[in-house]
Amino acid sequence: MKPSAVIFDLDGVLTDTAEFHYLAWKAIATRLGVDFNLDDNEKLKGVDRENSLLYILEKGGIAMEASQFKQLLCDKNEHYLSLIADINPNHLFAGVLSCFRKLKASNIKIGLASASKNAALVINKLGIEALFDYVGDAAVVTHSKPAPDIFLAVANGLKVAPEYCIGVEDAVAGVQAIKSANMFAVGIGDTKVLTQAELVFANMSELDLNKVLSSYQSNTAT
Ligand code: BG6
Ligand code: MG
Repeated sequence: MKPSAVIFDLDGVLTDTAEFHYLAWKAIATRLGVDFNLDDNEKLKGVDRENSLLYILEKGGIAMEASQFKQLLCDKNEHYLSLIADINPNHLFAGVLSCFRKLKASNIKIGLASASKNAALVINKLGIEALFDYVGDAAVVTHSKPAPDIFLAVANGLKVAPEYCIGVEDAVAGVQAIKSANMFAVGIGDTKVLTQAELVFANMSELDLNKVLSSYQSNTAT
């Protein structure tokens, strides 16, 4: 069986915006007097804005009014937007364009399934928006990662059945979302962290597409 689509996460897979999300959340946590370390950050990768703030509040044992909660979400996003203001095509991770080219040459569709409501802005700044066959909209899915919704919405938008899709993710919650969507999961990062992925590569320039395709094939051969 040959896959018909590869659906990518954005933050931490195609570009280093994961670092900017981390810095913006750390600033909010510090303001609230909550310790926020790299372990916390790992757990928040792929998690949407509201749930990320809930995690920080829970860690600090903090309760607050809805209006203050909303304000903090706005402040985090404003800080994040200022951090990504200067990103440009040079911020695309090495290996992304060559991977996309190979996929196009093999007639495999390319989708984007990011939890970020800023995804459209970021791919525009990176100059890659025209390369996607379908871009999912995090603002319209009901359940965020680790639920499968965004990956299923993108598969649907691409008109490809989930079992013919491969998902690529750097986050534990994201790999869970891919698996719940009944797709083949490729992790970007650490094998010890992304234990549910079928294959893990350190980064996009390490991603070996032939290996992915043959592993997908043996996985789906029954
Ligand atoms: C995910 C990131 O892609 O998007 C998270 O991994 C981030 O760190 C989430 O919180 C939501 O992003 P945004 O831009 O909608 O706040
Ligand atoms: Mg990510």
